[in-house]
Amino acid sequence: MQTHSAPPIADTTLPRFIAQDPAQYSPEEHDVWALLYARRMETLAQTASQVFLDGAARIGLRADRVPALADVNRRLAGLTGWSAVGVEGFIPAAQFFRCLASRRFPTTLTVRPRAQLDYLPEPDIFHDVFGHVPLHADTRFAAYLQRFGALAARAQDDAQVTAMARLFWFTVEFGLVQEAGETRVYGSGLISSHADAANALGPACDRRPFDLDAVLATPFEIDRVQPLLYVVEDFAQLFEATALIAARLDRSGSLLAPP
Ligand SMILES: [Fe+2]
Repeated sequence: MQTHSAPPIADTTLPRFIAQDPAQYSPEEHDVWALLYARRMETLAQTASQVFLDGAARIGLRADRVPALADVNRRLAGLTGWSAVGVEGFIPAAQFFRCLASRRFPTTLTVRPRAQLDYLPEPDIFHDVFGHVPLHADTRFAAYLQRFGALAARAQDDAQVTAMARLFWFTVEFGLVQEAGETRVYGSGLISSHADAANALGPACDRRPFDLDAVLATPFEIDRVQPLLYVVEDFAQLFEATALIAARLDRSGSLLAPP
């Protein structure tokens, strides 16, 4: 007699994580990483937040090889407790937020093809690990991103999810920061893309001081250069924004400003 065990109940609270096998990357993929790394670092030395530059060194990013997440995570564990975890690709917003709340950053593992060196609509490991993960070595940014995830996971409706997606977009993805009298890039979309960073620091972009409620109310379009971005004074300002959101949620159940 054949018996059937009950199928496992799908765990929808977190995405399915996939293991990275660093030995699987081809010489061509390491070459593409090296080319992207060299081209971006040449400019970022002058245009990126020092927090990014320090973070890239602290997590041990190498110029010549696709990073092994296990090595990066060993270093991050002793710094902030964040880790980068492999996922297949797009994951639902609620799962993404829950990962952030537990200091896990969902990361794609593929390397973009050489033919799409400068533009790729979906994230790859260069965007996710080179662009995002160095900031996770900074205790202030690490605290912000974890708090962001915990608050975003409490969003009750589409309007609140949209507002938190805007906060993510204008800080984590496309944020600018004032450092040593200059505007520097820290958002991953700017760190990982020469064209987007050049636009963000150039004359065509309207750079405004970070204001939480302005950010929550500003729509954005992906797949185009950004006409408007926000500049924080420092990363403490980001954490203060989450404190304000938390107070609103506790008071009214909504993270949006009271009407
Ligand atoms: Fe990103």
